[in-house]
Amino acid sequence: MAKNIILVGFMGTGKSATGRMVANQLNREFVDMDAVIEERTGKKISAIFAEEGESHFRALERELVQELSAREDLVIGTGGGVVLNPDNIRDFNKTGVVICLHADPDTILERVAKDTHRPLLEGDDDKIKAIKELLAKREELYRAIPLQIETSHHTAAETAQEVVALYLGQTQF
Ligand code: S3P
Repeated sequence: MAKNIILVGFMGTGKSATGRMVANQLNREFVDMDAVIEERTGKKISAIFAEEGESHFRALERELVQELSAREDLVIGTGGGVVLNPDNIRDFNKTGVVICLHADPDTILERVAKDTHRPLLEGDDDKIKAIKELLAKREELYRAIPLQIETSHHTAAETAQEVVALYLGQTQF
């Protein structure tokens, strides 16, 4: 059994794309938390936000963190807001290595521009402003994670290499 690898970070930092590659490389299961929540509720994340509110989504997210933290051998792609509850990071740390992916606002905008499934950025005409404001509010929470990777000028494959190297550095000695 091996420790989980948990990728946190703002929307558009590549958690899912990178996580899938890391899982492939290490021959592990990849769990995309938002996808699991959508599958179990039968609803899109944006519908959960619209119909039940953000706090309901955060409660579902919290339950899933507890469930996944009780397992091992996983690569976990979280939603960007998982850092908002410090209990989530504390639980993930018990059975895994948490790595925070970063990107600058322009890169984030490029990566999320065509998406319509991110409720916190939807309907905002000035997306770059929305990204900067939300990033500023959360910056401290993301920076508090000891393991950090800057992804702005990297492909998902390059970031995946860095994730594997960081993880092995944490677990092999
Ligand atoms: C959120 C990020 C989204 C999703 C939800 C809330 C956030 O995930 O969980 O829309 O609070 O930053 P991604 O980071 O995968 O876009």
